[in-house]
Amino acid sequence: MRNYSRTPFVHKMETDVQSLDPRNRDILVSINGKLVPRAEARISVFDSVVQGGDAVWEGLRVYRGRIAAFAAHLQRLQNSAKALAFASIPSSDEIRKVVFATLEANGMTDQTHIRLTLSRGEKITSGMNPRLNQSGCTLIVLAEWKPPVYADSGIEVITSSIRRNTTQCLDSKIHHNNLLNNILAAIEANVAGVASAVMLDINGFISETNDTNIFLVRDGKLLTPLADSCLPGLTRQMVLDIALEHHVIAIEKNLSLTELYTADEAFTSGTMGELTPVLKADGRVIGSGRRGPVTERFQELHRQHAYQHGEALPFWSNQ
Ligand SMILES: Cc1ncc(COP(=O)(O)O)c(C=O)c1O
Repeated sequence: MRNYSRTPFVHKMETDVQSLDPRNRDILVSINGKLVPRAEARISVFDSVVQGGDAVWEGLRVYRGRIAAFAAHLQRLQNSAKALAFASIPSSDEIRKVVFATLEANGMTDQTHIRLTLSRGEKITSGMNPRLNQSGCTLIVLAEWKPPVYADSGIEVITSSIRRNTTQCLDSKIHHNNLLNNILAAIEANVAGVASAVMLDINGFISETNDTNIFLVRDGKLLTPLADSCLPGLTRQMVLDIALEHHVIAIEKNLSLTELYTADEAFTSGTMGELTPVLKADGRVIGSGRRGPVTERFQELHRQHAYQHGEALPFWSNQ
């Protein structure tokens, strides 16, 4: 007889790092500048993010009193909102103030991840057309205690059957909340019992994973897909900047799965998980099957870079 009570298999690394942190039970969340306890943090059923995923977002990380690449995240949020023709987009300074106030109210200065969401706002009645939006954007600042979500030692990935959008469908330069193709890819990774799924572009080249960018290491050089179909991630940009600074050759080009399987090393990059070694892809062991020296060096350099170039929290004096 089938056992219906069996809990679904979830990759161990994921469940270990993503269980509910008790410190997050009573956090305060900012909705349109108003701080409310987590249990009461609600938005309207008429909000555009509920009606059509019509919103843009950023994931930010706080390192010892500093927010990594804060100005660049705010710029990307505003560019995404502008591309979607949102009205009355809040300025960087307005958003900055709300983010700082949220962190201060929660006493968060480290090991914190912030999910910043800007939706097109409330509609006067349900429907798709932005003409129904007449009262400006909704801004949500959700700050949580959250150390990097992937293990430093490495993860296994599979390739998803779901493709990333092309610019002909939905431009990956817009960091939007229409995440269903990435979610379908994440489900494939869950079913396969691995941490993440590599997504190809429409031409079959590697684009990124469902939630991170990807780098290969070959003969000491870094290789990463062109940002045609992937999100041009800010951590990806940091890795490229670090490579330039340290005279490591880094090339953006089309990359095939064969190049991933036969790379010396591979790693993913993203604000949520920082740099994470990829040890196995579609059952092929990558390089030695352990974190490689280039990946380890860049993990360390990235943490230093994220902190050194971070924007200081004005309420935190211990710098
Ligand atoms: C699909 C996807 N790729 C890559 C990234 C990494 O981007 P970043 O380095 O700016 O966090 C993200 C993060 O939001 C993402 O959602």
